[in-house]
Amino acid sequence: MDQKVSVDLSGAPQTMLATLYLKALDADFARPILGDRYAKEAAARLDYDFTDIGITAKWAPLITVRTAQYDIWARQFLAVHPRCTVIHLGCGMDSRVFRLDPGPDVRWYDVDYPEVIALRQQVFGSRPGYQLLPASATDMSWLDQIPADGPALLLAEGISMYLTADEGAALLSRFVDRFGSGELQIDFYSRLAIRSQKGHTLVRRTGSKLFWGVDSPQDVLDRVPGIRLLIAVTLFDASTFRGAPRGFRMAGRLSRIAPPLRRTLQYHRYAFGPVS
Ligand SMILES: C[S@@+](CC[C@H](N)C(=O)[O-])C[C@H]1O[C@@H](n2cnc3c(N)ncnc32)[C@H](O)[C@@H]1O
Repeated sequence: MDQKVSVDLSGAPQTMLATLYLKALDADFARPILGDRYAKEAAARLDYDFTDIGITAKWAPLITVRTAQYDIWARQFLAVHPRCTVIHLGCGMDSRVFRLDPGPDVRWYDVDYPEVIALRQQVFGSRPGYQLLPASATDMSWLDQIPADGPALLLAEGISMYLTADEGAALLSRFVDRFGSGELQIDFYSRLAIRSQKGHTLVRRTGSKLFWGVDSPQDVLDRVPGIRLLIAVTLFDASTFRGAPRGFRMAGRLSRIAPPLRRTLQYHRYAFGPVS
C-alpha cells in the first residue's frame, strides 16, 4: 500500500480539504450526486484528520451539486471545442481532468497555490496534455505561460470568494483579453454570505477570509467587459440539485420565499468572443 502523504495547510489552501472530503463521502453514498472515485482514493492517501475542519457528510450536497453542475457545463464546452485550452483555477484536489477525460487536442492546466500543487503531485498521476501550474491567481504572470491560441475555458470553482472584487474582475478581464474566445464558468457567494462569514465553520477552522460577493450576473457583467451571460443558477436551481436529499429539497422550496437566501450560492457561465 502507498505511504500516506502528510498535509500541512492553513487558510484558503486548507479549504480544499473540505471539498475533497465531501466528494469522497459522497462517493460512498447509496445515491451519490457526483460519485467521484478519484476523490475517495485521494482522501484515503492523505494523512489528515478530516474531522479537524468540522465538516460532516450531511453537507456533501453543498459541494457535489456544484461540482457535478460544472462537470456538465465543462463537458458541453469540450464537446463543442474538442481543440481548446482549459484552465482550472483553484483546482485544489479536484479530479475533474480525470473525471472528464478530455480528448487528445485539449490542453488542460490545473492552477493553485504551490503548496496545493505539491500535494496534488504526490497523490494524482499525470496524463498527456495535462500540466500543473503552481501560482497565486492574483499574480497573473502564470497566464503568460499558457499559449493563447484557440478557445479557452476558465473554470473557477470555489475560488472567487477568496479574491477581492478588484482582483477577481482584473483576472477575468485579463483572461478574456488574452484568449479572445471561450467561456468563464465560475461560482459566487452572495454579499450576504460574505457578510455572514463568521458563521461559517470552515472559515473559522481554517482562518480563511472571504471577500468577493456577487448578488447577480449584472455585478460581473458591469466589471468584466466583453462577456455575455449564458446561464446563472443558484444551488437550488442547478440541474444536479434534483439528486439532493429531501432536507435540501425542502430548504430549496422554502428559499423561494426568501430570495436573499436562495441566491447565497450561485453558479455562473459566461461566453466571450465571436458568437458561434
Ligand atoms: C474551497 S477550495 C475549492 C477547491 C476545488 N476547486 C474544489 O471545488 O474542490 C478553494 C481553492 O482555491 C484556492 N485558492 C484560493 N485563493 C487562491 C489564489 N489567490 N490563487 C490560487 N489558488 C487559490 C485554494 O488554495 C483552494 O485550493
